[in-house]
Amino acid sequence: DISMAKSKYEYVKQFEKDDSLIPNTWLAIRIDGHGFHKFSDRHQFEKPNDHRALDLMNKCAEAVMIEIHDIILAYGQSDEYSFILKKDSNLFKRRNAKIVSTIVSLFTSNYVFHWKTYFPDKELQYLPSFDGRTVQYPSDKNLRDYLSWRQADCHINNLYNTCFWALVHSGKTESEAENALRVVGTISSDKNELLHSSFDINYNNLPEMYRKGSVLIRKEAHLMSHNQKGVEVVRKKKVVTTLHVDIIHDKFWKEHPELNVSV
Ligand code: GTP
Ligand code: MG
Repeated sequence: DISMAKSKYEYVKQFEKDDSLIPNTWLAIRIDGHGFHKFSDRHQFEKPNDHRALDLMNKCAEAVMIEIHDIILAYGQSDEYSFILKKDSNLFKRRNAKIVSTIVSLFTSNYVFHWKTYFPDKELQYLPSFDGRTVQYPSDKNLRDYLSWRQADCHINNLYNTCFWALVHSGKTESEAENALRVVGTISSDKNELLHSSFDINYNNLPEMYRKGSVLIRKEAHLMSHNQKGVEVVRKKKVVTTLHVDIIHDKFWKEHPELNVSV
């Protein structure tokens, strides 16, 4: 009978590999849009930064954080987002595949669901997908260096792309722009100078979201409500909040001791 048959088959479970993450480490789950070069092209994202696309990414990350309470912070730029789980998280018993696949699918379904809000006049041409991975960081310094690495990446790419598209919009071909930037080289101040002298763009005046990316944390908010007697009371509630701030230097971490990341 079927229950006999089931027990006969059940040995296959033993082939499942344990993928639980080691205890007491920060977990950084980074998701990244698959083929977003093409995706951004097909949906005519503005270059180098599309405000709507970045707002949509932030909305999805917020939805993930609302669902998964152990995420203390998320950092996003371009087509990527990193979610940081607290060190002592026991989410899905720290099983890696469960954690990553849940975050990736929540993020992706939100992206499709909220598309029309952020691109009301643009039909979704095909379905986007995201990959995901987990990196375990044993020390607070490792975690901060990881996040600094992502924010530095945001800065370098954005400065380069801002120069590149300024050159192209001024009439240079894409390969001429590439060559011009090769000459300018890797030094940031030279690119700042190029933007300033040739295009009258002050890089530091561009929106913070483009230059710094987006940081989501839980901030205590004071909400007004009424108790059973109809008296107005103040409730404290943690609300997911989006910031566009520097997370490389100590200031941010000193201002947020609740994150439990040592400075
Ligand atoms: P894989 O991640 O390897 O699948 O490739 P990818 O094409 O997604 O490239 P990658 O993740 O390295 O880089 C993200 C790409 O998304 C950028 O190179 C841009 O082409 C595009 N992109 C992200 N944000 C924006 C935006 O705001 N505007 C525009 N125009 N493009 C963007
Ligand atoms: Mg990508």
